[in-house]
Amino acid sequence: MIVVSAATGRLGRLVVDHLLDRVPATDVAVAVRDVSKATDLAARGVDVRHGDYDVPSSLRRAFAGADALLFISSSDIESGQRVDQHRRVIAAAGDAGVRRIVYTSGLGADVVEEGVLGEHHATEHALADSGVPHTVLRNPIYSEFFLNPGLLAAIERGELTSSTQGRGMNTATRADLAEAAAVVLTNSAPAAGYDFTGSLWTYPELAAFLSEVSGRPVSYREVAEDEGFMTVIGPAIRAGAFELQTGDLESVLGRTPASLRDVVAGVVHHAAAV
Ligand SMILES: NC(=O)c1ccc[n+]([C@@H]2O[C@H](COP(=O)([O-])OP(=O)(O)OC[C@H]3O[C@@H](n4cnc5c(N)ncnc54)[C@H](OP(=O)(O)O)[C@@H]3O)[C@@H](O)[C@H]2O)c1
Repeated sequence: MIVVSAATGRLGRLVVDHLLDRVPATDVAVAVRDVSKATDLAARGVDVRHGDYDVPSSLRRAFAGADALLFISSSDIESGQRVDQHRRVIAAAGDAGVRRIVYTSGLGADVVEEGVLGEHHATEHALADSGVPHTVLRNPIYSEFFLNPGLLAAIERGELTSSTQGRGMNTATRADLAEAAAVVLTNSAPAAGYDFTGSLWTYPELAAFLSEVSGRPVSYREVAEDEGFMTVIGPAIRAGAFELQTGDLESVLGRTPASLRDVVAGVVHHAAAV
């Protein structure tokens, strides 16, 4: 039995889709905090269980019988409770006799001890201390974070701006990371950890992709000030923190991960069709 936690989220839903392509639905269960959001999964034959990271007793029941648990990190990044939630999940998995925990960590969490990555770092240590066999999937930032209505506005304006100083970004799509998680979950002898990276892209290249797929000229201009999400990650991007490249995602998928150009084409063509 494979149990997926937080399966009503965007990543979890994609993982369940990929699992159902690989194993019978009777071998898949989900642990979700709101079972009413998972009626579609129940209709597909998935065992829907209540599992709230804030309610340890629900987690022990939800994880019962799991050969593998995909522990998707909590989305509660505001409250300061995230590491406590994660420790509860790991303790409940140990109590329930889960045979392997597969945890969605963050790329760089093996070394970075502060911020969001620091929470993943603490969770990786809690996993090591738990004695439960585990695998960490160090996911990069989702490509989807950079594919937003702002891109369509950039096409309208004919100009894309950023404060990235041309540094590379190793993002990957949720779809590829979800498929990789499903492959690892169905592997009887996975590695202890994977550092997933997509192939590098830069903002000037993104402007060129926008021109190419829209058929309209989009130039690139560097700006000094960070805006929006860039106020959080701009300094790390400029320091080259997102330029690490590994072969782990390609090797687990058995194919090249989706390129940003292809994903941008999908976004622009979808918007054009709406
Ligand atoms: N790599 C990246 O770029 C990146 C970016 C953002 C976040 N993340 C991390 O990756 C995780 C998965 O990403 P995603 O895109 O699937 O996020 P998402 O769509 O926001 O889904 C988050 C999931 O976490 C569940 N959840 C929140 N609090 C919970 C609790 N107390 N107990 C049980 N479940 C709880 C939510 O349940 P409900 O459906 O009931 O709300 C939802 O199913 C996120 O939770 C976050 O830790 C990664």
